[in-house]
Amino acid sequence: TIHPVVLCGGSGTRLWPLSRKSYPKQFVPLVGKQTLFQACAERMRGPEDAPFAAPIVLTNSDFRFIVTEQLAEVGIDPGTVLIEPEGRNTAPAVLAAALHLNASDPDAIMLVAPSDHVIPDSKAFFAAVAEGARVAADQKDLVTFGITPDRPETGYGYLQLQASPDGTGKAQPLGRFVEKPDLDTAKKMLADGSYLWNSGIFLFAVRDILAAFQAHAPDLMAPVRAAVEQARADLGFLRLDPAAWAEVADISIDYAVMEKAKNLSVVPYSAGWSDLGSWSAVQELSNPDEEGVATSGEVTAIDCHNVLLRSEAGNQELVAMGLDNMIAVAMPDAVLVASMDKAQDVKQAVTALKAKG
Ligand code: GDD
Ligand code: MG
Repeated sequence: TIHPVVLCGGSGTRLWPLSRKSYPKQFVPLVGKQTLFQACAERMRGPEDAPFAAPIVLTNSDFRFIVTEQLAEVGIDPGTVLIEPEGRNTAPAVLAAALHLNASDPDAIMLVAPSDHVIPDSKAFFAAVAEGARVAADQKDLVTFGITPDRPETGYGYLQLQASPDGTGKAQPLGRFVEKPDLDTAKKMLADGSYLWNSGIFLFAVRDILAAFQAHAPDLMAPVRAAVEQARADLGFLRLDPAAWAEVADISIDYAVMEKAKNLSVVPYSAGWSDLGSWSAVQELSNPDEEGVATSGEVTAIDCHNVLLRSEAGNQELVAMGLDNMIAVAMPDAVLVASMDKAQDVKQAVTALKAKG
């Protein structure tokens, strides 16, 4: 069976003011009624005829009750909730999950799932996971899932295929993994045509990812192992040891392992994927009308084009007139009004507000 490992410790500042430090985007209903985390947890039940094991959810202390509340709302058994005393990015989180699973089953296949992605076609996703599991078992490879790029995005990792995708969705050996390139490099990789985006979803056997950490990020091993071995049960959560965790470096799995490992395979995935990284991505997925007007909450739009308008403040009415290419998000305590072209820069607003104190 496949053991899902759900990551939900990130912060998502480009979706301010809906995504907050205390309530980040994965816990907010951005598109549809469910939150991204709930949709992810439902997906991680796996296919009906071959269900996945109960998930391991990794989050930090601040979000632990949000996690259990949101799982209860959709009727999902929380499985194991591992609490990181502080966020240390994804490498330590994945390593902690691997060490936790290793105690019972070193051959277990882990499916690492970021909690903030939109994946509309679960059936296609499960087929890709099955293909990945085959390669992870047969070749001991670390498997990534690759998305056909449509712009020179600098916020993603890039996967260079050794051959161009043949459209069959079969796994292929990976040439090179490039995490978050600069714009020039991203443009070259897009033009080159042999690169896919890294979806951030990974699949591997416990013993293979542990060997990869040992080879490429050996300094993480001792403190993360200590944090797992000295973890304490706490109100149904498993809390990693804070003193050991304090010694753990802050680094993503992409930089710590994936850019360095040689035994990588990619399963091309073309059935729809978005990490909802910005308000423009939310607009695209919010069923805009033929004028490009996407709304949520109490909103009246008059003569607007290509806009995202959200009123998140109970029954507070948001009225927009004659707007072109704009984002307006109204919360009870904060309102964002921005050009759609600035969607990627909203984190600057958060930085500016922090500086103001
Ligand atoms: N438990 C835990 N602890 N989860 C975390 C932490 C942490 O310290 N930091 C981040 N996460 C979660 C986030 O909530 C998200 O679900 C996932 O891990 C990925 O982290 P991000 O911070 O969103 O990564 P990214 O978007 O910058 O980059 C990754 O995803 C891209 C695709 O969305 C990389 O894998 C890129 O290569 C990839 O293209
Ligand atoms: Mg992300």
